[in-house]
Amino acid sequence: MRRPARYRYSARFYDLISAEWPVYRASRLAAVDLLAPRPGQRVLDVGCGTGLNFAYLQRRIGPTGSITAVDASPQMLQQARRRTRSQGWDNVQLIEADASTLDMASLGKGNGFDAALSTYALSLMPSWSQVVSTMISVTRVGGRIAVVDMQRPRGWAAVWTPLARLACWLGGSDIDAHPWTAVESSLADVHAVSLRGAHIQVRTGSVPEDHPPSSGYPPTTPTPTA
Ligand SMILES: C[S@@+](CC[C@H](N)C(=O)[O-])C[C@H]1O[C@@H](n2cnc3c(N)ncnc32)[C@H](O)[C@@H]1O
Repeated sequence: MRRPARYRYSARFYDLISAEWPVYRASRLAAVDLLAPRPGQRVLDVGCGTGLNFAYLQRRIGPTGSITAVDASPQMLQQARRRTRSQGWDNVQLIEADASTLDMASLGKGNGFDAALSTYALSLMPSWSQVVSTMISVTRVGGRIAVVDMQRPRGWAAVWTPLARLACWLGGSDIDAHPWTAVESSLADVHAVSLRGAHIQVRTGSVPEDHPPSSGYPPTTPTPTA
């Protein structure tokens, strides 16, 4: 797995070097605000990395809710596990798997997830369209989906394009993937937020009654790691 291997050595430093506070945190907060999970709800985080979304989700879902977090990189999951243990969160399940082949339906239990999100991760997955479709299919009707990802800055901010391209290249993202378009085309009640000179795009939407079930890739068995 070529792309997640990118984080083998950098996972330990990811939170420090990812420009989280000056650049990327604001969109994470916007996405969780729009997702608005309620106490006791079940949330799926796809490509969770070191778990930078967890604290914001926990504030909403509380101890009776749960987070199921999937990532292909064992090193990123190790950081997520550290975070989870240090905070004493016992409602987080970490799954090491490739999101594009994982049978996510087996993770949802009962009626599926109440909400699913993916932040800065889908643009690393060539099959992002299929992954978004799977996220939708494992979320209950009326549940919400959030996608946060990057593109080339626009307008006056285009002067920052070389820096944005460097950040995406370092992280293994395809800056031209635009995975939020899958939210726009498949969901109801779509909200859009554009930040940092349009470099960061947030889309949320609700799962409609008539969304077709995932046609799916060959499913693999999930491996809980914590
Ligand atoms: C840029 S990091 C973002 C992490 C986190 N979502 C965040 O907002 O900080 C991208 C993450 O996607 C994960 N990833 C890439 N391809 C994946 C795949 N096919 N399945 C699961 N995770 C994947 C990487 O291992 C990495 O942890």
